[in-house]
Amino acid sequence: MDSVLITGGSGFVGLKLASLLKGNYSVYIACKTYDDSLLRFGEYVSLDIRDANEVRRIVTEIRPTAVVHAAALTNVNDCARYREKAFAINVTGTENVSRSAEEVNARVVYLSTDLVFDGKQSFYTEEDEPNPVCYYGVTKLHGEYIIASLNSNYCIARPGLIFGKSIGSSTCFAETMVDRLQKHQEIRLFNDEFRTPVYLDNVCASIGELLARNELQGIYHLCGSERISRYDFGLRLSQVMGYDYSCIVPSSLYDYPFVDSRPPDCSMSNRKAAACLNTRFMTIDEGLYNMMSKIKIGP
Ligand SMILES: NC(=O)c1ccc[n+]([C@@H]2O[C@H](COP(=O)([O-])OP(=O)(O)OC[C@H]3O[C@@H](n4cnc5c(N)ncnc54)[C@H](OP(=O)(O)O)[C@@H]3O)[C@@H](O)[C@H]2O)c1
Repeated sequence: MDSVLITGGSGFVGLKLASLLKGNYSVYIACKTYDDSLLRFGEYVSLDIRDANEVRRIVTEIRPTAVVHAAALTNVNDCARYREKAFAINVTGTENVSRSAEEVNARVVYLSTDLVFDGKQSFYTEEDEPNPVCYYGVTKLHGEYIIASLNSNYCIARPGLIFGKSIGSSTCFAETMVDRLQKHQEIRLFNDEFRTPVYLDNVCASIGELLARNELQGIYHLCGSERISRYDFGLRLSQVMGYDYSCIVPSSLYDYPFVDSRPPDCSMSNRKAAACLNTRFMTIDEGLYNMMSKIKIGP
């Protein structure tokens, strides 16, 4: 059986991906923090990707057929506040993973982000020039360049904003919305920040395909087809899941004192991925219905 090492395997995406790949691959879940629940989906590997020697030791020992590199410092504000840490994890860490994977001829699928774009246009394609305006985006783009220059067999997947039911401790913005709606707490959502949200299960299925199909190389945008503001997404979620949306308050990106710039429109086009992959990207409503069924009856 082929083996896959998932860095960031305990994260929101990594753990769901592990649960999907289990059965078809020997799955190795690499992260810093141990949790019993990880063992349901693979073998736990304690790894800090900032340590080049450790990364090499582990990758050489496992000799995975493929590596999904999902580990990152993902909090946009933290990346701006703690730049050295963000660089060490997102750039140096990526270089460590990339070099070691190449040494064992492993295929690499690197998870980048829609925030590599400057947010000045809509529906960015894989051909559009990245120009990140936040430090998180800068580090993730640097990671893309590293993978593209050091790896001979790779894909760069750029997911849009991901929503879905998490299966571990790391959750997503939509789950925070559900939590606040259930408690009737006010939620302020931007009506001038646009993304193309994508359902978690679709992202993971797409990554699974990218992993398995060596003929697919280069960059793929994994996102939904609908461009939507966070505010309208919140309203849609409330409507689909039957919550009272009177506590959702519209606000503007420009009223909020961010520690870093926030690109206003990082919507992407999924045309290339939709044409190559068998995974069908659900509409936002389909994804929300699916997520709701998992909240009610469990994953
Ligand atoms: N979620 C989204 O909407 C979204 C959208 C676009 C792109 N992405 C990209 O998709 C990937 C996964 O995102 P996510 O939402 O699943 O992130 P997440 O839930 O924040 O998980 C991050 C993972 O990285 C690991 N990690 C952090 N620092 C590490 C280090 N020094 N060494 C080893 N592991 C480390 C964490 O493990 P520990 O907790 O053990 O440190 C955790 O498993 C990221 O690369 C992100 O940039 C996510």
